Amino acid sequence: MIEKETNKVIVALDYANIKNAKDFVSKLNPKYCHVKIGKELFIATGPAFIEYLHTKQFKVFLDLKFYDIPTTVRKACEVASQLGIWMLNVHASGGGAMLEAALEGVNKVKEKPLLIAVTVLTSMNQETLNEIGVSRHLEDQELHLAKLTEKSGLNGIVCSAKDLSFLKTHFHNSFLFITPGIRMANDLPNDQIRTMTPIDAIKAGSNYLVIGRSITQSKNPTETLEKIYLEIN
Ligand code: C5P
Repeated sequence: MIEKETNKVIVALDYANIKNAKDFVSKLNPKYCHVKIGKELFIATGPAFIEYLHTKQFKVFLDLKFYDIPTTVRKACEVASQLGIWMLNVHASGGGAMLEAALEGVNKVKEKPLLIAVTVLTSMNQETLNEIGVSRHLEDQELHLAKLTEKSGLNGIVCSAKDLSFLKTHFHNSFLFITPGIRMANDLPNDQIRTMTPIDAIKAGSNYLVIGRSITQSKNPTETLEKIYLEIN
């Protein structure tokens, strides 16, 4: 059963070393957010930092976006799940066999993390898709990969909040939509192309918001996070 909770913000800990990550985490309250460890921080700190976050009561989303042959992904998902993480992800474009293998890996562990798939990265647009040889319209490609994810038995997808209005209608309520590319109204988009504000993303049906720089680079991260929490609840 998928939990329904008011804690809908996942803060992206995009740091290159344990000191900076710990300094920043000390400003966060696990009542208001979960945290995400991506490739940069995981390569720098490994499983030890996940253990540290668990001692501080944070739920951890391990964002390593696996994309490989099915056997490799199955084994990676099993080992990752043993770390007691809350959420884990893979690329839907790895195909049905790879998605099913990922789920098999997760299912080997008693306390299973949520397994979600990335459809089209929020940094990509139609031009980028064409560049890599995908001629399908971006929305069609997203829906196609989301359906493949659902058919393979995963818990949900990562997608742009901009696409929720058309995507949500095609899925059951229990299918989760995790949306990065979130920016406060006055923030710079940086490298994200299709962005949305926290409140608009929640209104559009996002279950969890992945927020990085709008919180990590804000003058007062504690205040910014609490402000977002109150606004979306
Ligand atoms: O700083 P910003 O809010 O743009 O951070 C976005 C975070 O979400 C980064 O950690 C990035 O890796 C992640 N992400 C993303 N697009 C996806 C999946 C994850 O930007 N489709």
